[in-house]
Amino acid sequence: MKQEFQDALDHSIEITLRNLETLTDFPERCEGETWTTIDRNRIPAHWNDGFWVGLLWLAFAHTGDPKFERGAREWAKQLAWLKDETRTHDLGFIFWLANVLGARVTGDESLLPDALQAARTLTRRYNARGEYLQAWGLIDGTREERGRTNIDLMMNLSLLFWASERTGDPYCARVAARHARTSRLVLVRPDDSTVHVGDFDPETGAFLRHATHQGLSADSCWSRGQGWALYGFADTYRRTGDEVFRAVAQRLAEYALIHAPEDLVPFWDYDSPDTQSANTYRDSSAAAVMASGLLDLAEIETDAARAARWRAFAEKIALSLWQNYSSRGTRIPAILLHGTRSVPHGLADHALIYGDYYFVETLTKLLRPDIAAHTK
Ligand code: GLY
Repeated sequence: MKQEFQDALDHSIEITLRNLETLTDFPERCEGETWTTIDRNRIPAHWNDGFWVGLLWLAFAHTGDPKFERGAREWAKQLAWLKDETRTHDLGFIFWLANVLGARVTGDESLLPDALQAARTLTRRYNARGEYLQAWGLIDGTREERGRTNIDLMMNLSLLFWASERTGDPYCARVAARHARTSRLVLVRPDDSTVHVGDFDPETGAFLRHATHQGLSADSCWSRGQGWALYGFADTYRRTGDEVFRAVAQRLAEYALIHAPEDLVPFWDYDSPDTQSANTYRDSSAAAVMASGLLDLAEIETDAARAARWRAFAEKIALSLWQNYSSRGTRIPAILLHGTRSVPHGLADHALIYGDYYFVETLTKLLRPDIAAHTK
C-alpha cells in the first residue's frame, strides 16, 4: 500500500505544480477540465481559499522546492484582509491553513499575527446565551441568521484553541470548547449520525430545531458534515483532553464505518433514497476528510485494537480514493474526482479543492508523520 500512497502523493504534487503555474484566482471546483474560481464580491465564498494555500505549503514541505513556498506566500498574502472580516464563520479553515501551517512549515512566525487577529474576529460570531458560534450571515443580521449554527464550524475550532495556547488568554479556547459542547448536544443524534444545521433563539439561547443546508433533510446525515464532525471532535479532544469529545468522535467513526458503501467513499447523504442506485452521487471530499480525521482518532486512542481499526479504515479509504477517484489519465487539473459541493444547490460530481487538500493531508499523515505534525 505504501508504494500506492507514494504514487498518489507524487501525482498530487505534479497536479499542484501545474495549478501553481496556471491558476490566476483561488480554485473551488472543476467544471469539465477547468477550475471555477471565486466571485470575490461574495464573501462567504472565501471559505475554501485556505485549501489551495494549504496544498502549496504541503507541497513545499514534501519537496523543498522554493516555487511552492513563493507561491504559498503570495496566495496567503491575498487572504490577509479577511482577518477582520466578520461576515464568514470560516476564518479557521482559512487562517489555519494559509498562516499557521505556513509558519510551522517554514519557521516564519511573521505569518502568525494575522492568524491571531482572525481568531479574535471569529469569536465575534459567538452567542454566549446559546453557547454556539453563528454560521452564515451577518453578526447583526436577522434573527434567523443570528440563531443558526452548523456542524462545519467544528473545523474552525483549531484556530481558536491555538490562539489561546499562543497568547495565554483563555477566551478563544473557552469559546471553542463551549461551541463543541453545544454541537455535541444538539447536532449529534443518539444513532451517532450528525445534523447539518441547528437553529436557536438568539435572544434566549434556547434550541429551536434541526435543519439542513446541503444535506437531504433536517433528519438526514450529510456525509461531509459527518466527516467535519469526526475530524473536529477528535481535534477538540486532542486540545482539551476532555473524554466526551473522544467518545463522540469514536461514535461518529463507527457510524461512518457501518454505513460505508463497498468502496468506502460515502454517498453525498447517507439517507439519500437513491443510495441503491449505482449512479448516486458520491462525495470524495467527505471520504478524504474522514480518512484524515480517522488517522487522528487512531492516534488519540488508548486501546490498540481500536486504533488499528481506525487506521485500517483510513488506509482503505485512501487507497479507494487513489484507485477509483483520482484524476490519473484525465486532463482534469484536480487530484480527486467525484466530489459533491451541494446536491440541493444542483452542484454535484466534480473535483473540489478541499477534497484535494484533505487527500494530501491524509497521504502526508500516512507517509510523513513529521510533516503531518504541522497540520495538527
Ligand atoms: N463548509 C462548507 C461545506 O462543507 O460545503
